Amino acid sequence: MEKSRIPKFYRYSVPERHQILLDRGIITNEDFLQLQEKLNVIGVEEADKMIENVIGVFGLPIGLGLNMLVNQKEYIIPMVVEEPSIVAAVSSSARLVRKSGGFISSSTEPILIGQIQIVNIDNPSKAKTQILQNKEEIINLANSLHPRMQARGGGVRDVEVRILTSTSQEKDMVIVHLLVDTKDAMGANLVNSMCEGVASLLEKLTSGTVFLRILSNLTDRSIVKSHCNIPVDHLKGNGFTGEQVRDGIILANDFAINDPYRAATHNKGIMNGIDPVAIATGNDWRAIEAAAHAYACRGGSYTALTQYRQTSNGDLEASIEIPMKVGTVGGPLESNPSVRILHNIMGIESATELAEVMGAVGLAQNIAALKALVTEGIQRGHMTLHARSVATAAGATADIFETVVEKLIDVGEIKIWKAQEIITSLLQSQQVEELEQEVIEYLPESATAYGKVILLGEHSVVY
Ligand code: MEV
Repeated sequence: MEKSRIPKFYRYSVPERHQILLDRGIITNEDFLQLQEKLNVIGVEEADKMIENVIGVFGLPIGLGLNMLVNQKEYIIPMVVEEPSIVAAVSSSARLVRKSGGFISSSTEPILIGQIQIVNIDNPSKAKTQILQNKEEIINLANSLHPRMQARGGGVRDVEVRILTSTSQEKDMVIVHLLVDTKDAMGANLVNSMCEGVASLLEKLTSGTVFLRILSNLTDRSIVKSHCNIPVDHLKGNGFTGEQVRDGIILANDFAINDPYRAATHNKGIMNGIDPVAIATGNDWRAIEAAAHAYACRGGSYTALTQYRQTSNGDLEASIEIPMKVGTVGGPLESNPSVRILHNIMGIESATELAEVMGAVGLAQNIAALKALVTEGIQRGHMTLHARSVATAAGATADIFETVVEKLIDVGEIKIWKAQEIITSLLQSQQVEELEQEVIEYLPESATAYGKVILLGEHSVVY
């Protein structure tokens, strides 16, 4: 069975979806019960231990992105997000891309940079040499502070030194970077404490004064690359040829590469895919956002994080390169039952695997956005989006919700009064069906075998 392909998943009720996940072995019995009983949601008591001045717990939907194939492995993608269409967009791109082999992702070691700022140095170049000559001592000291990380194969990999001009002081600053492989941990606390731990050694080596000691969120040593090939034929639809869609996507990306105004929106679309997975898996999405946008500026001006090109045989090749420093162990995984369940659903075994899937999700989201923008525009998608909120406002219950949304879009009148009209008519026909069923159960088998039951108020006739 293809784990991430669950046809018509959206048509089921929420409890039915839990059942499907259980039946397919995607969740355990215990997780099934937690979801059914809503025990996965943290209580106010747990929340009160997480942050300050707690007054409650905030809810957001958890959706599942389907069809994702990354490095030949099937993934169901948990996404925590309030914006409609995002989960559907990832699932539909993933479905398109899996037809031609899915996404191929790779990543560097999960390196987090720790920065130490040293000021009041008379001779920065000499200080730099001094630090580099004593690299081993610095590395050993930092690693000795976290022997368990070293035992897991992680720890400080290298030390780098930069000299920066200060705008407020006469003397230049020396900036030391500790490059730390934090393995499956996001590593913020670990790296911060290493930076603090080597501060006095650096002061001794440089005769300067250590000032800031903190990690850098420009995690450009923790890079994910993901790409896919889409045969041009697979792109056709909605009255557009595959060539038109392919060339349109390349042109749209060109716009984002050359214009920061467009690049900001383009990259926001990428993060529409990545942030919900970060939240679902208990990762720091502000850090991931900061890294992505800073990386998008690495050439001196803000640009797109993706590339698109036509291959020699006419396919569309899409690729993304993005920093992705995430963790699969620690805090939220232990304190938030939802995070634990969602990790299990995803079936991730390491932080680098999670990063590689998240890169592919970002690319999937971007493919969906560009495909919509260069064809029918996103308004149709937005109509669906609007129809969903109108259906909710009109009080559509889960069992008829999708039908109400579909009918609203079909009639093109996305208004609350219209939704109420549709709901009333659906409920009436549902009641008729239930009554028919009751009558059929009540009537002898021979009566129903020959004809259809007509309901006339309390009387029923078989013809
Ligand atoms: C909307 O949340 C995201 C898009 O604006 C992204 C894009 O324009 O590429 C559709």
